[in-house]
Amino acid sequence: MALQKVTIKDILEKKKKGEKIVTITSYDYSFAKIVDQSNIDLILVGDSLSMVMLGYKNTLSVTMDEMLHHTKAVSRGVSNALIVGDMPFLSYKIDQTDAVKNAGRFIQEGGAEAVKVEGGTEICPTIKAMINADIQVMGHIGLTPQAIYKFGGFLVQGKTTEAAKKLILDAQNLEQSGVFSIVLESIPWQLAKIITSTVNVPTIGIGAGKYCDGQILVIHDMLGIFTDFKPKFLKYFGNIGESIRLALNDYKEEVLNGLYPDQEHSYEFPQQELNEINEWVENVDLREEARRLI
Ligand code: KIV
Repeated sequence: MALQKVTIKDILEKKKKGEKIVTITSYDYSFAKIVDQSNIDLILVGDSLSMVMLGYKNTLSVTMDEMLHHTKAVSRGVSNALIVGDMPFLSYKIDQTDAVKNAGRFIQEGGAEAVKVEGGTEICPTIKAMINADIQVMGHIGLTPQAIYKFGGFLVQGKTTEAAKKLILDAQNLEQSGVFSIVLESIPWQLAKIITSTVNVPTIGIGAGKYCDGQILVIHDMLGIFTDFKPKFLKYFGNIGESIRLALNDYKEEVLNGLYPDQEHSYEFPQQELNEINEWVENVDLREEARRLI
């Protein structure tokens, strides 16, 4: 049965109906296609690609052009899931007009249907400007990886009463500015539960416990492909990294032992033409023949 394109309305409806929202990141055509066939609600082209695809040590290095390059690839592979482009560091916090233009590029050039921005109350005027330009926005509070130097690392947030209250109020302000959902990253589950019950838009948790309206993971993390570090919340749902290593070992063995490619995986020339070619190779000066082509 053909699946229906997921819309923002569908995502909002799920919260009302108490249905969990299943989301994941993707960064390229082939992965996005598999994700889409798995009936996932929302695909985030996360700036986590800075680390898992491009090998940078954090998410601060990835640029607008790189994000767009990957967003375009994802959107070519997706027919059903809602696609959200993640706005990279420096693309939306310096100048509001630039922020709206950059957000618009995700929609116009990248094929995304919404963008995600990191930040609380301080980013609300920019979110409103994007929404005024008909660009749909997802919020992101808690551990916002673009601020790791402020936090002092990839550390759990909202651990003090003051910090927790601030996040609860940030969520209120994000909702008031018009976001259609809010990512809650690396905060205590009880805090995520309070935030989830005090906003009307869906919360999407990553390291925020089971009471969020939906969950998100970085696909390379949950499949065991990116293993540079493992936060407490991360569960491996596959060991694809190991499967790739085993497949590469088999490939190497077969090539070294002349087992691959075999006849089944080779193209074949008809015998008569082959005889003709062999005869020609034996009888002409190949260098001379080749020179005549120049
Ligand atoms: O960049 C990303 O992948 C994210 C998710 C982890 C929420 O922001």
